[in-house]
Amino acid sequence: MNREPLWDERGAVMGKRIDRREFLKLSGAGLAGAALLGVTGCGGGGGNVGGATELTFSFFPDRTGSVQALIDQFNSENEGEIQVTLREMPADSGQHFDQLNTEFQSGEINIDVIGGDVIWPAQFAANGYIADLSDRFPEDERGAFLPATIEAMTYQGGIYGVPWYTDAGMLYYRSDLLEEAGFTQPPRTWDELKEQARAMQERSGTQYGFVFQGADYEGGVVNALEYIWTSGGDVLEGNQEVVVDSPEAQRGLEIERSMIDDGIAPAGITQYKEQEVATIFLGGDAVFMRNVPRMYALASDPNESSISPDQIRITSLPVAEEGLQSYSSLGGWNFFMNANTEDPDAAYEFIRFMSAPEQQKYRAIEGSVLPARQELYEDEELLQQVPVAELGQEAIQNTRPRPVSPFYSDMSLRMAEQFNASLNGEVSPDEALSTLQEELEEIIEQGSQQSA
Ligand code: GLC
Repeated sequence: MNREPLWDERGAVMGKRIDRREFLKLSGAGLAGAALLGVTGCGGGGGNVGGATELTFSFFPDRTGSVQALIDQFNSENEGEIQVTLREMPADSGQHFDQLNTEFQSGEINIDVIGGDVIWPAQFAANGYIADLSDRFPEDERGAFLPATIEAMTYQGGIYGVPWYTDAGMLYYRSDLLEEAGFTQPPRTWDELKEQARAMQERSGTQYGFVFQGADYEGGVVNALEYIWTSGGDVLEGNQEVVVDSPEAQRGLEIERSMIDDGIAPAGITQYKEQEVATIFLGGDAVFMRNVPRMYALASDPNESSISPDQIRITSLPVAEEGLQSYSSLGGWNFFMNANTEDPDAAYEFIRFMSAPEQQKYRAIEGSVLPARQELYEDEELLQQVPVAELGQEAIQNTRPRPVSPFYSDMSLRMAEQFNASLNGEVSPDEALSTLQEELEEIIEQGSQQSA
């Protein structure tokens, strides 16, 4: 499938799909509306300027422009009533979390609606930072969303977020090079991936075999977890018992490290996050890549990619050996409401708009993300235009959540550190896992004493 570029340099839309302008026109909104209002960029905290409630929505940088386009539409439709300003947060989920956490702790936060990571609700809810949306988001409305996304927003009987889109780690590959090298199928096992990568590199002269996220951060955690899960291991059982120090988990970390030792992945991988990895693959310098679905959207943009979408296919992550199941980390982004926003009705109005089917569909198409609403997986137009949505159905079946815990951010810091140390060879996989076993046990024990 060949897609046209999403945006030209001036931000105008190219291509034949529903484009930004058309979308706004169809939904009765003019682009000029927001600009004419003269609303200042700051504000937030549910402030009220010139009669309109000013809201601040925070989210990480979106390179497709589709989030801002939706905000523009909302602002035009709600002229004189509600005006939303986008505040850009760090791309790294952990840094993003820290920034919000610090602002919440200081009581100085001026964000009303947070576009936040699937792993945050337990901790933010336990601290009373985000609102329980049970009354606004009743059970009969929740059924329209993928069950895992709702489960992830549920904490101690309350619901603390409305799902926006879901994420799963996926294996991207160069289908053109795979075919040229004589393979008919993408790899099923990690060993096969190495074998195919070598053959494809040799024929094409491509610099790297496989790139993935190995840095000391949240993405490094999800990647290592995927190696552990696809080798039959786990971290926690029943969200309480630490089981990470096992032969299966060790095998997972050994496979991860062997990618560097065997020359399949560059040593620099120990510092790479989603965007750096995507830049290498989209620059034509790697034959395989593990990444989230949204990177596919960038392949249509010549400023971001020197390969085209029709040279790329996507499949499930490989396993350690035949018979094991493929897993990928359940990721995803959701709408949380600041528990102290001055105008919760207006804030929820914005959440309702952004999470509605039409807006989820637009964002899925423009941003190449997996919508959280189930009905959209039957939408032919969407499935045709967003190949990751088609594949996403399989990946969604294979997703596994990270530990659900109010101490997750502490656990994650320890995991990120040990997984990264094992990947860069500072410690052996075995040592990393026994250290981690102790550290995680301690975090859970201390946490349960505090909450007792
Ligand atoms: C993706 C996922 C998110 C995860 C992050 C790790 O953004 O949606 O859940 O924490 O990757 O880098």
